[in-house]
Amino acid sequence: MSIQFNGTLAVTGASGALGQVLRAALACSGVAVRCMDIREPQRLHAGETFVRCDLADAEATLHALQGADAIVHLGGISTTASFAEVVAANVGGSFSVFEAARRHGIRRVVYASSNHVTGYYRSTQRVAPDMPQRPDSFYGLSKAFGENLAQLYWDKYGIEAVGLRIGSCFERPRDRRMLKTWLSHGDFVRLVDRALHAPKVGHTVVYGVSDNPQTYWDRDPGNVLGFVPFDSAAAFAEFDDTAPEPQFQGGSFVDIDETKLEP
Ligand SMILES: NC(=O)c1ccc[n+]([C@@H]2O[C@H](COP(=O)([O-])OP(=O)(O)OC[C@H]3O[C@@H](n4cnc5c(N)ncnc54)[C@H](O)[C@@H]3O)[C@@H](O)[C@H]2O)c1
Repeated sequence: MSIQFNGTLAVTGASGALGQVLRAALACSGVAVRCMDIREPQRLHAGETFVRCDLADAEATLHALQGADAIVHLGGISTTASFAEVVAANVGGSFSVFEAARRHGIRRVVYASSNHVTGYYRSTQRVAPDMPQRPDSFYGLSKAFGENLAQLYWDKYGIEAVGLRIGSCFERPRDRRMLKTWLSHGDFVRLVDRALHAPKVGHTVVYGVSDNPQTYWDRDPGNVLGFVPFDSAAAFAEFDDTAPEPQFQGGSFVDIDETKLEP
């Protein structure tokens, strides 16, 4: 799977799990990629440059994004964490990215939101992106902020954005819940591709989920982007056992008391 992109594409969180998956697909087409992260990537592909940048530092982020034509914003805390941590990396970090997009005239940001924005819906419910946010954690709350920030920057400044409420993006589903939430690596790449290239997205939020036989979420908004998932968790039905279904869609994130976590 490869992605074409005309111009310089900035990828935040480039050293992380999904950053590496995306960069491998971009490298196949020789795209010019500006990799941004607080951690150095294990390796750089041809066409890539690395800028070490803490997204909590708005000035550094502004500087690092100069000359970029679009941004795929994956960087930040990717799990439950203390309020102070998610505020710095995710709330402050997303502000830095959108504000840099505004100041540099970068017209589109594709950003990683999360299914944990709606993790407090019950497992029996079917949820669409236009239903009210019900975050299950400070982490989910920080992603909810990111979506609202993106809406503001579209309404006020005309910065187009696509928010991907990523389900569980791993090589394969790891438990029964992931049979519903799994997004394959290939489908993640296909989704980012459509989010970068679909015309006139305004601000669009979609769930990032493969063509699993069962899911919690309405996949139709993804169709608006022209996203067609190729993969399905059906091939991993070994988890389909008698273990009880989590009560809420957010699974274990609902049970973690983040007020007890130290920064
Ligand atoms: N993998 C999934 O299943 C999944 C599900 C839902 C949402 N997401 C979101 O997708 C994005 C990528 O996920 P991932 O699995 O690759 O996570 P990851 O933790 O592997 O990667 C995140 C990267 O962000 C970097 N980072 C952290 N704080 C930073 C900061 N202040 N400034 C700059 N860089 C910083 C980290 O060094 C890391 O390389 C995250 O935003 C995550 O919340 C992922």
